[in-house]
Amino acid sequence: MRFHIETYGCQMNVADSELITTILLRAGFEPAKSLDEADVIMFNTCSVRAHAEERVLGRVSNELSRKRNKPELKVGLVGCMAQRMGKSLLDRGIDFVVGVDQYQILPDVIMGRDQIHTEFDQTQLYPGLIPTHHSKTCAYITIMRGCNNFCSYCIVPFVRGRERSRPWQEIFNETREAGSTGLKEITLLGQNVNSYHDGIIDFAGLLRKLNSIESIERIRFVTSHPKDLSDDLIESMSGCEKVCEHIHLPMQSGSSRILQVMNRGYSSEHYYSLITKLRKSIPNIAITTDIIAGFPSETEAEFNDTLAVMRDVEFDYAFCFKFSPREGTAAAGFDNQIQEEVRLERLQKMIELQRQITLSRFQAKIGKNVEVYIEDVSRKNRSQVSGKTRDFKIAVLSGTESEIGTLKQAKVKDATAGTLICE
Ligand code: SAH
Ligand code: SF4
Ligand code: F3S
Repeated sequence: MRFHIETYGCQMNVADSELITTILLRAGFEPAKSLDEADVIMFNTCSVRAHAEERVLGRVSNELSRKRNKPELKVGLVGCMAQRMGKSLLDRGIDFVVGVDQYQILPDVIMGRDQIHTEFDQTQLYPGLIPTHHSKTCAYITIMRGCNNFCSYCIVPFVRGRERSRPWQEIFNETREAGSTGLKEITLLGQNVNSYHDGIIDFAGLLRKLNSIESIERIRFVTSHPKDLSDDLIESMSGCEKVCEHIHLPMQSGSSRILQVMNRGYSSEHYYSLITKLRKSIPNIAITTDIIAGFPSETEAEFNDTLAVMRDVEFDYAFCFKFSPREGTAAAGFDNQIQEEVRLERLQKMIELQRQITLSRFQAKIGKNVEVYIEDVSRKNRSQVSGKTRDFKIAVLSGTESEIGTLKQAKVKDATAGTLICE
């Protein structure tokens, strides 16, 4: 049987799709070269905002229509929506629905019909399974699963279950193996990597262990939660030369009152103090963030507080979202929901402000020397390649396909709000 997986959502899902691929290959399945050739089509899905779910449901119904000409085709849904919507998905004609802790039984499930397996297994870490990484340059390595934080807007703890950490030795082996296949970069994944603890070492300790692996040149991680960013971790980041000068540190809001109703566990002042510490210990660190516009009860003044912090901190990049109520989360039931037009208007203001800030952060790099890890060749111009700097900025420069996977020294000549043009 030939399978095809279409992946949505965060990098956890990208890594899980690699895990599923490894499980299916071991069971004798083969990857399909195209959708037309596939005997099984699987959607690995995201529930974080309503829009993410709607997009997938549209795609699923398209693919289900293939069954008219190919009745033996199986269409399945896995991941966070499987967990959240469960049986209602079977009513849409989907053949199987498998949740995030049950991927090991996928080979059997695919052969059946109307199968649903969404039981949580709070200890599931897929031991002994080292997935084959698909990227030619970076290995996405899951270091923990689940989340215990219950930020009041967020569905993730309900669809991913409780937080648990993989034993460091397994992460170490997976990293070494990735290095031995030629990958120079790893990205460690978890909903809150700062709270990693396998009973033996914490996240600062894990970084120090991985930093000793010779074949690896760059270490990245997502996501860091501000409430768990310790001084020791900052020290470990600055002391480990392979840990890149970048942190993704979701702020969510610049108002301490909103942060409290979000159940984030830190104030705006604390967030600000972390930025100061990071910049002091790691000069030139790039800081990126996530921010939500129009959280229930957010006043115009509180929204302006967020804009003020954005101006003050000058994030290198910010992922801005408008609040999306998720059924079952605390915030969906809060009074004082903000009208859709206001949410949208605030979102647009945020995006515009950040675009200007991003542009000035990128322009500040003009004239500087950077190291670029070449990841791709430009589709428009085959004599141009693109990659990332250590501080997570996309850079383009002249080069050829054979340079993919190599590190190049370059000088920044020009910049847009998203790309460094280098020489
Ligand atoms: N674990 C990560 C984030 C996971 S979700 C962390 O704690 O930072 C990625 C981002 O989606 C969040 O940071 C948040 O900004 C956004 N998000 C999550 N739920 C949302 C919702 N209901 N509406 C709008 N944005 C949301
Ligand atoms: Fe969601 Fe908060 Fe957990 Fe991040 S830390 S996944 S925002 S509950
Ligand atoms: Fe989405 Fe699930 Fe990730 S809800 S953001 S794919 S953990």
